[in-house]
Amino acid sequence: MSEVKLLGTGASVPEKIVTNHDLARLVETSDEWIRTRTGICRRHIVTGESLTSMSVDAAKKALDASGLSPLNLDMIIVATLTPDEPLPNASSAVQKALGAVNAFCFDLSAACSGFVYALGCGAMYIKGGAAKHVLVIGAEILSKIVNWEDRTTCILFGDGAGAAVLGPSEEPGFLGMSMGTDGSRGHTLKMFERDIDNPFMTDAQRAAANMEADADGNLRPKSRYVYMDGSEVFKFAVKKVPESIQQVLKEQQVTVEDVDHFVLHQANYRIIESVAKRLKASMDKFIITIDEYGNTSAASVPLALDELMHSGKVKKGELIMISGFGGGLTWGSILMRIV
Ligand code: COA
Repeated sequence: MSEVKLLGTGASVPEKIVTNHDLARLVETSDEWIRTRTGICRRHIVTGESLTSMSVDAAKKALDASGLSPLNLDMIIVATLTPDEPLPNASSAVQKALGAVNAFCFDLSAACSGFVYALGCGAMYIKGGAAKHVLVIGAEILSKIVNWEDRTTCILFGDGAGAAVLGPSEEPGFLGMSMGTDGSRGHTLKMFERDIDNPFMTDAQRAAANMEADADGNLRPKSRYVYMDGSEVFKFAVKKVPESIQQVLKEQQVTVEDVDHFVLHQANYRIIESVAKRLKASMDKFIITIDEYGNTSAASVPLALDELMHSGKVKKGELIMISGFGGGLTWGSILMRIV
């Protein structure tokens, strides 16, 4: 059994910045509403980048920071719900672009918890001896699944990619994790992709597969855009995130005070504030990137982690708590030590 540590991180966001004022020209909203309700000031939206190009850019930076070449990688995981194409998967496209020919690759789908799950997965492969150097990426182009006419969702999301490289270690850098899922509440964050439609179906079967009832009971095609019950997701997050963090702390026999930095999924500034309050932790320990990037789903935690690692605030021996939550509903927390 090998110990595991974080070797390096990287980030990449699209060049195009879309401000709240830009959105106020598209839908009925205002900079003031968006800032006060979410903490978001701007987000980066793809105009020429692809999920693969952002992922590769972030991966190269993470590899540089780790002092490794793509040939050192033996595993690549990309957490995403918006791959450029379902086939080939995003991680294989990244492997090709990097020339990481020694790595086996797969994508992981767990919405905004995706990166945290992928990091846990990569660490377990190393601990179990099945991999040595693992590249973990969280990347999204949420702008392609957002309804730009729906002010309740389009103001929240952004695009980007973040990467981390894990490797073997003498000292324990990956201390513990706690993951959870509540599929019974999956309907609070959802999106349908393609119709099930083949020559062997009856019209009734086609309708059953591809239509759903609206609030008035009328049938309509399932939404191809992100649907979200914002207040339900909010309530879920402020309850589950502190619980999952507390569970990891308890298992590792450390306290909230012992944690030096909290890297949470950036969905809403008020959610982070509320988690800090419930944990009785100082907001100074929480990295905030939501103002700049909005909610970038699986990319949000690695973007925030990269910002923290480059902030000059992190010292050897410090503890970092990473926590994600989102569609599924899913949640997960990981405690790491910088070694
Ligand atoms: N601009 C202006 N007004 C808006 C608006 C916008 N962009 N979006 C919604 N509103 C309106 C609503 O229509 C509502 O009007 P009404 O009172 O006349 O009905 C009012 O603002 C309040 O809406 P509400 O949904 O109660 O606001 P809120 O304070 O709950 O904030 C969210 C909404 C989405 C910001 C918040 O619920 C949230 O962040 N939820 C979690 C989302 C999330 O984390 N999603 C991803 C999970 S990974």
